[in-house]
Parts: sequence; structure tokens; C-alpha cells
Amino acid sequence: MRIVFDIGGSVLVPDKPDIEFIKKLSYELTKVSEDHEIAIVVGGGRTAREYIEVASEFNASEAFKDYIGIQITRANAMLLIAALRERAYPQVVEDFWEAWRAIHLKKIPVMGGTHPGHTTDAVSALLAEFLGADLLIVVTNVDGVYTDDPRKNPNAKKIEKMKAIELVELVSRGVEKAGASTVIDPLAAKIILRSGIKTYVIGKEDAKNLFDVVKGRHSGTVIEP
Ligand code: UTP
Repeated sequence: MRIVFDIGGSVLVPDKPDIEFIKKLSYELTKVSEDHEIAIVVGGGRTAREYIEVASEFNASEAFKDYIGIQITRANAMLLIAALRERAYPQVVEDFWEAWRAIHLKKIPVMGGTHPGHTTDAVSALLAEFLGADLLIVVTNVDGVYTDDPRKNPNAKKIEKMKAIELVELVSRGVEKAGASTVIDPLAAKIILRSGIKTYVIGKEDAKNLFDVVKGRHSGTVIEP
């Protein structure tokens, strides 16, 4: 299979970079890459949010703040490249053509952000679309898609399985500002829908057993075309 992994920044960098998790994740990714072609997109996490907040103090524009966020996602991508060592393409991949070339060199491409106006969720969905991936695996700071934000609404329920159109409807209620977040970026949801990309949304615990996740064994949400 060809698989794209979308690693949320808040999973990788909750307060500061989670070294143990990065080690475990890179081990799992390396193992999975022995049987599958994989590509990875990494988010910005707390560092990106903090930098964006500071830039807001100076009235920076949304697009300017997005560029700051992109730089931070690329710094996080470099950490994962360091952890993946020889398995990774040695530079942060900045466009989809380069990702394609890296895969054909039998290396794992690792991307951060690309352009202002969206998040790395959208980058990963577009990358999955571009590469014709069989599966997109989104690792996020909640353990699946809920009927509402579980951190704000205690009555929110986890959804085991849903259609891409239902995901689009669910996330369209979110706001689109630099640093703002819904479980999945609305643009990513639309791309998943238009290209019929099979997607799993999983949490950090499941991400420690990616070998199982790839086989469909996880406690997250399955999004079907
Ligand atoms: P993230 O993808 O980490 O966004 O990019 P997020 O949804 O806020 O993060 P998590 O997953 O909840 O931790 C961080 C910021 O970088 C900019 C956006 O401002 C985004 O909020 N960004 C990122 C872009 O403008 N373009 C990109 O392609 C990626």
C-alpha cells in the first residue's frame, strides 16, 4: 500500500518536543515502511501557536502568521527526519513532486506546511491525492472524530465510522484563522471527499502501534469515501 501519515503538531510537540514519542513513532514508521511506501506530513504544535500569538501582538497579517507556522512545521519535520535517519529523504520536502521523487528513491519524504491559508492536514490530504495513496492516517490529539469537541463538550461521542461527506459537514462549523483548529482542517475534509481517500483518524496511543493501525486495528475513526 501507499500510505500518507499526517502527524499533528500537538502530538509531536505538546509542550516541548516529546522525545520518547518521536523515538517510538520513528521506529513504527520505519517498520511500516518495510512493507509499504509511506510519506509523512508534520504539524506545528504548541511552538507554532506560541509564535503565531506573539506575531498577533504586532498585528501581523493572517498570511504572515501562516508563514511563521509553516517555518515551525518544517523545523518539526527536521526533528522527525533526524529520528528516521537514513530511511528519510534528508531534506524537508516542500512540494508534492519532490515527495514523489523521494518515494521513487526508496526514501521517506517528510513535509511540513506548504502555503498560507490551510494547515498540514490539508497538505497531507493533497499529498495523498497527488500520490494516489491507498490510505491517509491522521494522528491527532483526540483519539478520533467526535460529534463535538470532547475537550469542551463532555457529551461528545466518538464516531467509529463515517462518510467523508459527514466529516465535511461536521468540520465546516470550525473557524479558519491562523492557529485555529478543528479535528481536521475543513479543506482537508473536502479533499478527502473529492478524491475518495480512505482515512483513519487516530490518537497518540494508537500511533504507538502503527503496524496494527495499518491493518485496520485501532480505536479511532474510519472515514469511508
Ligand atoms: P498545523 O498544521 O500544525 O496547524 O500548522 P494546526 O491545526 O493549528 O495544528 P495542530 O495539528 O492542531 O497542532 C500550524 C500553522 O501553520 C500555518 C497555519 O497558520 C497553521 O495554523 N500553516 C501550516 C500554513 O499556513 N500552511 C500550511 O501548509 C501549514
